[in-house]
Amino acid sequence: MIPKDVIEEIKSRLDIVDVISEYINLERVGQYYRALCPFHTETRPSFYVSPKLQRYKCFGCGANGDVIKFVQEMENISFYEALEKLAKRAGVDLSKYSKTSSKSGYSIYTTFYKKLKDLYKKELLKNKKALAYLKDKRRLSEEEISHFEFGYSPLGSKLPIIIAKELNLSLEMLMKTGVVFRTTKGIKDIFEDRIVIPIKNESGDTIAFGGRVLDEGEPKYINSKDTKYFSKSRTLFLLDIAKNYIRRLDMVIVTEGYFDAIALHRAGFENTVAVLGTALTQQHAMRLSNLSKNIVLAFDSDEAGKKAAIRSISVLLSRGFNILVVDYRDYKDADSLYTKEGKDGIEKVFEKAMSFEEFIVNYYKERYDLSTPSGVESFASAIGEWGKRIAPYTSSVRVEALVKYASEVSGLSQKDLERFVRSPTVAVQEDRKRVGADEEIAYLFFNYEDTREEILNFPRDVLGNCIKEILDLYKNTNNLNQTMENLSKECSDWIFNVLKDTPPPSDYQRILRDVKRRLELKKLTKRLKEIDMHLNSATDEERHVLLKARMDIVRKMKSLQRG
Ligand code: UTP
Ligand code: MN
Repeated sequence: MIPKDVIEEIKSRLDIVDVISEYINLERVGQYYRALCPFHTETRPSFYVSPKLQRYKCFGCGANGDVIKFVQEMENISFYEALEKLAKRAGVDLSKYSKTSSKSGYSIYTTFYKKLKDLYKKELLKNKKALAYLKDKRRLSEEEISHFEFGYSPLGSKLPIIIAKELNLSLEMLMKTGVVFRTTKGIKDIFEDRIVIPIKNESGDTIAFGGRVLDEGEPKYINSKDTKYFSKSRTLFLLDIAKNYIRRLDMVIVTEGYFDAIALHRAGFENTVAVLGTALTQQHAMRLSNLSKNIVLAFDSDEAGKKAAIRSISVLLSRGFNILVVDYRDYKDADSLYTKEGKDGIEKVFEKAMSFEEFIVNYYKERYDLSTPSGVESFASAIGEWGKRIAPYTSSVRVEALVKYASEVSGLSQKDLERFVRSPTVAVQEDRKRVGADEEIAYLFFNYEDTREEILNFPRDVLGNCIKEILDLYKNTNNLNQTMENLSKECSDWIFNVLKDTPPPSDYQRILRDVKRRLELKKLTKRLKEIDMHLNSATDEERHVLLKARMDIVRKMKSLQRG
């Protein structure tokens, strides 16, 4: 246990405004600072920091607390881990309060990774073949190899086990680091005979590795398994270095691969990060939106890269980003362009980056044969869907730009294309099946005031406990903050996660209609079950009535399912 006065001492040496500013951009308003809330989705800032009270509060989602709680929630770590971090920063020594055995999970984990990284680095210098790969094939200088801290895991590597012994880690803890796997011959290093690239969190602590085969071989890359402190869908490679550049330049570049991000850093674009082989997620977008709203997508030029760019645009639009897209022309990705044409080649390509409207139009132009009527129709309806999708987030000028450019490319008149933008949605519907009905309701209730009255009248018997608790509390107080403050711990955690993880809908009225339909279906399913139970013990006469009721319900359900 850390004494209370030590905690106070740490807090008194820090300014909450400084600490929070390292994560998000705060804007001064009177005696407060304000920002877009990092804990839920919003387009207008309702997250406030009070230097006087040294506390933060979001009037949108209710998140609030002191500097420790902020770091805790932002980094997804425990109270003690956050305190440890802040103590370091405040120059307070906590070591006398914690015996080594009570060291936090985070500090053990990062110590493990740091030591392993250092050993891998040493191994690289010993291995001619691995070094030659980086120097000759990837054209990296010794300085660059050391700057990005490349390493190598030797054949038959026992390095993770050696470090686990040194740190007194149990086998179970070693397994949880995500760098080993069990075989009949014992524990093995998953990166054996691979180049390893450290993946760091924003504080610069190594939390995972990416491992590439030398030359050809499958799989080309292996990453640390997801762990308590590392998740692929949240982590952005090189963000620790890029963060300040992104702020200063008010622009972020995103690539698909490790080596692409590294190539751009080498070319002087240090505001670059990479996703780890996925499209950009809501969590990535949320994190970046607090650093800059200007983004350049620099994904690979192959089909997979283009698809990832298209998916990322959807995510980014709903968070109000300005988006440009890079076209590498005949090159596969940033790394291959840089290797052939250097900094100049990269600069040229970035100068010619296109608007996302242009990218969308080109994307569908390549997919549909505009010399046939059906190709033209598919093209027009795809553009129409995008027009509808971007309309809620951008000014009408952007929709007009999309239509104008699509018209130039396809030869269709702008008028015809606009009809598709205005026609009711047919084709592309958002896939939100994975968002539960309770979650949708909670999300709408918190983010769209005009849905509240209707939601308060929803039938309670098909709702989960937490959403019921929220609606009941709100009914009594008519106040979102009070509702949040009085919630049980369980439901307070629940709603926090819902607001954090639910992607914003492109058309919330549609989601509201959809959720009503889902509730109605739930109700009917419940009735069906009841009827079926009665049927077992019913007399013939009762059977007749029950079966008729059953048929009515099934018919209703069918029509609801049709939408
Ligand atoms: P790419 O296959 O485009 O890799 O995958 P790359 O960066 O061009 O590879 P190099 O230049 O040949 O070395 C892009 C990203 O997808 C993830 C990695 O993060 C990679 O950087 N990936 C790819 C995997 O996780 N596993 C794989 O097998 C392949
Ligand atoms: Mn690539």
